[in-house]
Amino acid sequence: MKEQSFLVEKALFPAAGYGTRFLPATKSVPKEMLPIVNKPLIHYGIKECMEAGIFNIGFVTGRNKRAIEDYLDNHPELEQKLDEKDALHYLEEVDEIINTCTFTYIRQKQMLGLGHAILTGKPLVGRDPFAVVLADDLCLGNPLREMQEIFKKYRASIVAVEEVPPEKINRYGVIKGKEIEEGVWIVEEMVEKPKPENAPSNLGVIGRYILTPTIFDYLENTPPGRGGEIQLTDALNTQAQEEIVIAYKLKGRRFDCGSVEGFIEATNYFYQLEKGERKENPKKEKDKKR
Ligand code: G1P
Repeated sequence: MKEQSFLVEKALFPAAGYGTRFLPATKSVPKEMLPIVNKPLIHYGIKECMEAGIFNIGFVTGRNKRAIEDYLDNHPELEQKLDEKDALHYLEEVDEIINTCTFTYIRQKQMLGLGHAILTGKPLVGRDPFAVVLADDLCLGNPLREMQEIFKKYRASIVAVEEVPPEKINRYGVIKGKEIEEGVWIVEEMVEKPKPENAPSNLGVIGRYILTPTIFDYLENTPPGRGGEIQLTDALNTQAQEEIVIAYKLKGRRFDCGSVEGFIEATNYFYQLEKGERKENPKKEKDKKR
């Protein structure tokens, strides 16, 4: 088999949530479309995919999410107007995405949690390994590209993790694992949003996953968990018992753009980056944050 065939070539973006923390803006604008400087969050997630060799991108959407499809489509009227003004360059960045990737969409009819959203996306990814991108986690240093390398080595589901302080651990899926190389663990247990006193470690899962297709079998048999929702964490916990699941520690910085604080931090960071005031140096930035 060619080495290329081991690479993950598809990604799924669950994008059906209400974006509660950003209401009232998200009453009519999908949270994935909130802009960091002049580009919506999904733009950054899609670019990360492209840089990791993933061009086949599926969205699990819901009501009120049509703006995502419109963003990822041509707009002949606008293009004509811009052309007349010699201003087509405004669309260059998004055109690059539109012309390079294939986008597919499926609607999640009921909001039954992240696990249910992934299961809804099954027809879009088939029986191939695929990446999952939660667009509100905006990452520097392209974790997906690094996870592709880990996948080549272990051929197993991979979750990206980050050290999380105790007061925030209850916002994350948390792993317990055995470190097999620096920053890489075999997952022994995963718990969704535990109380700090019950957390099996300080390693919280962030919104980048590579999943092998048997995850769908586990998801189909996963009963509702925390919050009455079908949790991806629970299905991954079963997969970790039956097969192997790997946790990989992020090397770069991550902005939690699902929170107002993280969103503002990302906005400031990318604004300065755009203005050329700051060179992208994920490691240094991360160290500074800690
Ligand atoms: C989801 C997952 C959680 C993970 C988090 C990462 O939670 O359920 O395990 O740690 O994404 O962002 P959410 O933030 O959607 O509540």
